[in-house]
Amino acid sequence: MSRLRWKLLQAAAGSCIPPREELGAPPGAGSGSPPLRRADLPAPGRGLGSARPRRAARRSAPVRQCRGRGDRAQRFRLSASFFLLLAMAAPRDAEIRKDVQNYYGQVLKKSADLQTSACVTAARLVPKHIREALTNVHEEVALRYYGCGLVIPECLENCWILDLGSGSGRDCYVLSQLVGETGHVTGIDMTENQVEVAKKYIEYHMEKYGFQTPNVTFLHGYIENLEETGIKNESYDIVISNCVINLVPDKQAVLQEAYRVLKHGGELYFSDVYASLELPEEIRTHRILWGECLGGALYWKDLAILAQKIGFCTPRLVTANLITVQNEELERVIGDCRFVSATFRLFKLPKTGPAERCQVTYNGGIIGHEKELIFDANFTFKEGEVVEVDEETAAILKNSRFAHNFLIRPVGEKLPARSGCSALESKDIITDPFKLAGESDNAKPRCPSDVAGGCCL
Ligand SMILES: C[S@@+](CC[C@H](N)C(=O)[O-])C[C@H]1O[C@@H](n2cnc3c(N)ncnc32)[C@H](O)[C@@H]1O
Repeated sequence: MSRLRWKLLQAAAGSCIPPREELGAPPGAGSGSPPLRRADLPAPGRGLGSARPRRAARRSAPVRQCRGRGDRAQRFRLSASFFLLLAMAAPRDAEIRKDVQNYYGQVLKKSADLQTSACVTAARLVPKHIREALTNVHEEVALRYYGCGLVIPECLENCWILDLGSGSGRDCYVLSQLVGETGHVTGIDMTENQVEVAKKYIEYHMEKYGFQTPNVTFLHGYIENLEETGIKNESYDIVISNCVINLVPDKQAVLQEAYRVLKHGGELYFSDVYASLELPEEIRTHRILWGECLGGALYWKDLAILAQKIGFCTPRLVTANLITVQNEELERVIGDCRFVSATFRLFKLPKTGPAERCQVTYNGGIIGHEKELIFDANFTFKEGEVVEVDEETAAILKNSRFAHNFLIRPVGEKLPARSGCSALESKDIITDPFKLAGESDNAKPRCPSDVAGGCCL
């Protein structure tokens, strides 16, 4: 977009559009990245359902606070010209990619450069073995960490893991220690600078871990088309992703690709940002908010709809943290909308016959989780304790890598003396990350208090 057109946009939109240079656009560039436009962005859950809250959209109509100058008529004229100019801009997904690549490749140099807590939220207990693995990661890699949760699941030895949007590689290097030399971790990212930083330290980490053969690979590519990078069907045990899917316009394509490359019984374990509402246009078209992982956030209820459409089990909510925005201007644009960073696990199960409720007993064999396995926000399995679980949880435990760590029996068999709670009623199951984040903020009742050596990141 020409400099003149950008100025016109700024004039029309007031302070909602930042100076181009602020986003790293080369001064004087003749064409390039217009602001993001609704038509080019995925309406969160477009065509996925009907009854969705539109409260923020109504309250934050085009003439709201972020412009807030002049009388009503003038404000209307401003908003009309703003949308006219937006309509002329006609950006495409490729331009969103360019913006994001520029933001993560050129503008940001370290986590502290971010203007919201969205990309570095992770106030949760971290088991000791993960904390130790984190301390082995090279300083430059760690400095460029922009994730929003802890994407280190349990039971990892020998696993093949794919990290979607691996950035500078922090999570890949932690996981490469935990899967061991016979496992493997592949990181894929579309921003060359990020991939370069990640690759630079392969030798450093392999030497540190004492591995003869590197067990980590970094690829340059797009996560909505993994086939392009040669990633084959059913080739990974686990797919992870940390604060990336919100940045991709076509979220369904990403989840579909994750499903394709996962083996049966595998899981997508990922942290991302979710919105409390279907996002209004002002937020979706705000370039900084998009780059900061808020503008492209999925309305949280749409995740379950997408997961079902693709064939995954019901999303299992693991952790959630409310996001804070430390910037008055961005706060004004956001208005009533709230954001949360949440970690979900989505299992791909083989299509077998109908599942049944079961009694399961955790045998305690998982490294770092010997006494208890906090499976998600609803299920914690204590070693040796019998728990009755619903059909889907039973199917997940039977068909995933966790099968070896559980004794699974049909309901009705006589229980041994040490039995735990029975299956949660569906009304008690927490699926809303905002509810979980609120609970954790108030009392942290579902936070494990006795993880050995746990601490907050
Ligand atoms: C918020 S950063 C997170 C990076 C990393 N996961 C971490 O925790 O540090 C988002 C990353 O996603 C990458 N990304 C965004 N869209 C992508 C896409 N469509 N394909 C591949 N990578 C993408 C960006 O290049 C950036 O490195």
